[in-house]
Amino acid sequence: MIALALAVAAATLAIGLAATFLLRMLPTVRLQLAGLALLAVVLPLAAVLLSGWVMFHMGDDVKILAVAAASACVAVAAGLVLGTSIARRIDRLRSASGALSGGDLTARAPDTGPRELADLGRAFNEMAASLEGLFDARRELVAAASHDLRTPVASITAMLEAIEDGLAEPEEYVAPLHDQARRLAALVEDLFELARIDAGALAHELRAVSLAPLVESCIRGFEAEARARNVRLERRLEPAPEARCAPEEVERVLLNLLTNALRHTPSDGTVAVILAPADDQVRVTVEDTGDGLTPEATRRMFDRFWRDDAARGDGAGAGLGLAIARGLVESQGGRIWAEPRESGGARVSFTLPAAGE
Ligand SMILES: Nc1ncnc2c1ncn2[C@@H]1O[C@H](COP(=O)(O)OP(=O)(O)OP(=O)(O)O)[C@@H](O)[C@H]1O
Ligand SMILES: [Mg+2]
Repeated sequence: MIALALAVAAATLAIGLAATFLLRMLPTVRLQLAGLALLAVVLPLAAVLLSGWVMFHMGDDVKILAVAAASACVAVAAGLVLGTSIARRIDRLRSASGALSGGDLTARAPDTGPRELADLGRAFNEMAASLEGLFDARRELVAAASHDLRTPVASITAMLEAIEDGLAEPEEYVAPLHDQARRLAALVEDLFELARIDAGALAHELRAVSLAPLVESCIRGFEAEARARNVRLERRLEPAPEARCAPEEVERVLLNLLTNALRHTPSDGTVAVILAPADDQVRVTVEDTGDGLTPEATRRMFDRFWRDDAARGDGAGAGLGLAIARGLVESQGGRIWAEPRESGGARVSFTLPAAGE
């Protein structure tokens, strides 16, 4: 008797495993669920029926069969309903993905329902939102770049036409033509640098560098301009460990910050450069007593082509300096940020990893 029970149990297990394997081959989720429901009802009942029949010659097989058939029908129906609802959600996700790849960046998938499917919908929507953000940023970038490239080109064209028409002497326009050409070249150079940052193509050769002499030499380069603008240039260089960085790039960042600080500091103001150790990093800060930063400026000044409304107009920069600075600092493992000073003016700082021993 025990042997028979064991044989029935083993046979049930083997059939169950084989059937599960076969179920996985069914082509749709709906069919797999219906098959699973059928299996879950029929297999235990068949085992019970078989052992009852063999062991006790029961006469109730018809009743048991009827119960089995009824519960199997209910289970299959439930499986089909569940499968249909899952398949419908997957269908909606698929059509959202089709719309997205067809260029409709506002397409979103439903993010309700069973937890796994809702999570999948949310993950899809996050991906779609960041794609949309990326495309918006790209569109704005192209619009801003073409606007800024158009201005010097229009100005060069106008000057050349004036010379051609005999309205001006060539010598008169040599210097402004040079200026505009330089502006154009600087802009193209900045755009190229940004493209390299985006492509992750900045292969810096990082080495241990003492930042004090580097900061000192940058400050010296600005002394004449600061004197001409009647701005005091201060340095506070605390003893700091060497930084692991590419010195030419750090110099470029610092020149950018100093140019900004001088540009925004009125006569009689002060620009200070501070070098200090910070945990396992080295921090460089450029402070000024100038216009200061609005909350919007603090948030957006590292965005490409962003500049304060007051900073637009002739002689203003393109709004790329800080975006490039951020790319350069981050690609050397550092961080850059800005904050308003309590007593007015701006403070922009960046950190670089200390060189270690
Ligand atoms: N020290 C500062 N004080 C006040 N505002 C600042 C300061 N530094 C930057 N900003 C604001 O952030 C904007 C972006 O600076 P960023 O250096 O990126 O561009 P830019 O100086 O305008 O042009 P570019 O550097 O390309 O010549 C500036 O236009 C200005 O509005
Ligand atoms: Mg700048």
